[in-house]
Amino acid sequence: MSNGSGNPVVLVTGASSGIGDAIARKFAKMGWRVVAVARREQRLVQLRQELADITEVEYLVADVTGKDAPGRAVDLALRAFGRLDCLVNNAGAGKWAPPGETDDDMIDEVLDVSLKAPFRFARESLKAMKPGASIINIGSVFGLLGGLDGGIYCAAKAGMIGMSQAFAAQYGAKGIRSNVVAPGVVKTEMTAAAWDHPGFQRTNQELTPFNRDGTVDDVANTVYFLASEEGSYINGQTIALDGGWSTTKYVAPEALICERIVPE
Ligand SMILES: NC(=O)c1ccc[n+]([C@@H]2O[C@H](COP(=O)([O-])OP(=O)(O)OC[C@H]3O[C@@H](n4cnc5c(N)ncnc54)[C@H](OP(=O)(O)O)[C@@H]3O)[C@@H](O)[C@H]2O)c1
Repeated sequence: MSNGSGNPVVLVTGASSGIGDAIARKFAKMGWRVVAVARREQRLVQLRQELADITEVEYLVADVTGKDAPGRAVDLALRAFGRLDCLVNNAGAGKWAPPGETDDDMIDEVLDVSLKAPFRFARESLKAMKPGASIINIGSVFGLLGGLDGGIYCAAKAGMIGMSQAFAAQYGAKGIRSNVVAPGVVKTEMTAAAWDHPGFQRTNQELTPFNRDGTVDDVANTVYFLASEEGSYINGQTIALDGGWSTTKYVAPEALICERIVPE
């Protein structure tokens, strides 16, 4: 990346836990400077303290749905570091319900956090980005295919793919790329409560051909690859990071012993 002086700069939304925290740490380890955005200040303070030996971290305590949040975050990157090389739209809200039971508040909340805010952050980041920069959106395999209780979450994550492709088409000629990383299930605060539930394991682990669960580091490594020189011809793509869950008809042999339920 050659986008100004000093080491490159990544802006990560939702950097206070789970996947966003891992992404911030990965970029820091690779020498990037970090702008971390989330609502829980103590987590961001801790992130900055833990990374102090290896890089500079600035943080913004903000709700990403605030109309001024993207401007404040990009402004912080420019004031503190003088450049912005990568935006990672990671903040997301997992609200699960059958589409028919999705109320208006849920529709607004999920679209605001997981689609409208990423669009605004991307739009704002463009103003600061130079050729070589990129936008990486954290989608979901639930944006690639429907799932029970997917409700508005599937719609928001699918919308994120369309958004990313539009940015890729529009700004590729300026040397700015846009891609989506779409994780399967990864153990974080968002999924912790469901992780050990047999139904969750059946619909996720038992349908995943690869021999282990995905981790936050798997996501962070893929995001970093896309942002780096090694990924610099990848534009407008969605990379499913799910051990083969979304592209196979795999069912674990152990799961096949159950009796078939024939609808009456
Ligand atoms: N875990 C999975 O299995 C999985 C699978 C596919 C996709 N994803 C996606 O991965 C992303 C990260 O999720 P995660 O699993 O790491 O969950 P997580 O640990 O719950 O983290 C969610 C992050 O988003 C931030 N956030 C949520 N709403 C926000 C708001 N209104 N304003 C600012 N920040 C907000 C949270 O920060 P604060 O609460 O501090 O604001 C937190 O840092 C999400 O987009 C999610 O949809 C996760």
